Amino acid sequence: MSPSFPLLPERASSFAGEVDALFFFIVAVTIVFTVGISAALVFFAIKYRRRSDDERPAEIHGSLALELTWTLIPLGIVAVMFVWGSKVFFQMNRPPDDAMTVSVVGKRWMWKLQHPTGQREINELHVPLGRAVKLVITSEDTIHSFFVPAFRIKKDAVPGRYNTAWFRATKVGSYHLFCAEYCGTEHSKMIGKVVVLEPEAYQTWLAGGPPAESPLVAGEKLFTELNCVTCHRPDHAGRGPVLQGIFGRPVNLASGDTVVADEAYVRESIVNPAARVVAGYQPVMPTYQGQVSEEQLIALVTYIESLQVPTEGAPAPAVAPQR
Ligand code: CUA
Repeated sequence: MSPSFPLLPERASSFAGEVDALFFFIVAVTIVFTVGISAALVFFAIKYRRRSDDERPAEIHGSLALELTWTLIPLGIVAVMFVWGSKVFFQMNRPPDDAMTVSVVGKRWMWKLQHPTGQREINELHVPLGRAVKLVITSEDTIHSFFVPAFRIKKDAVPGRYNTAWFRATKVGSYHLFCAEYCGTEHSKMIGKVVVLEPEAYQTWLAGGPPAESPLVAGEKLFTELNCVTCHRPDHAGRGPVLQGIFGRPVNLASGDTVVADEAYVRESIVNPAARVVAGYQPVMPTYQGQVSEEQLIALVTYIESLQVPTEGAPAPAVAPQR
């Protein structure tokens, strides 16, 4: 792309190239068909125009060969779009296991971000070059949308829900961050930047800020402060289900259904505990809606995610290793 005529933003993530290639393919197919069909339309209109009042056209009763051609060729083309598009879609929606998790909370009118080590930022996100970064995105009020054109990622921030997106930055630099969903009068000011640093520079940056409490540590504290510990005891003697080792596993519900204990289910169980009660337990848990902020919810979810089943004989570690 010519720098003086930038049709597309800079490419700075691992899948930006493929997103653009697919986009260009679809645009090229669209242009070829638009031009071809329009040209044929004009050509036929002139060539087969009615030349006299008593002219009658010849009757044509179909052509199998022609019909197969105009069915199979477009089918082949859209099949390419579908398979290619699915491949890119799955790639963009499956964060690698070694990704570092950054939490993103949208709020009128700012982006609040927190690193796995606890550092917080507003409208600015510093990330290391080449490292997969998974974003867990939610909102405190209305729907926002986290959009970084240079990375080709855009994901809605929806209140009450966790959406995830990920990227691997491939170029050092500073890139625009936008809110891409109209969210009120100052929507257009809900902007920021993502700064990609060399890994060493990122470590220096992390060390430079004030000492921060990681979501894991904050979550563990909250778990005690909010008295979650009294019911969710690891020894099966509490009134609530044991939380050790549940994260990512299927849970049987009182309704007979099964649900995987993911971020969304854990969050729901904190703010709306009666929604999906675990089999064998009474719906006695009070709601924590309004008592915990979105950031505190993320901390609690991070802590619950870290809880492992204690191994035989060894005491459970107070804090699991950093994600
Ligand atoms: Cu937030 Cu638009």
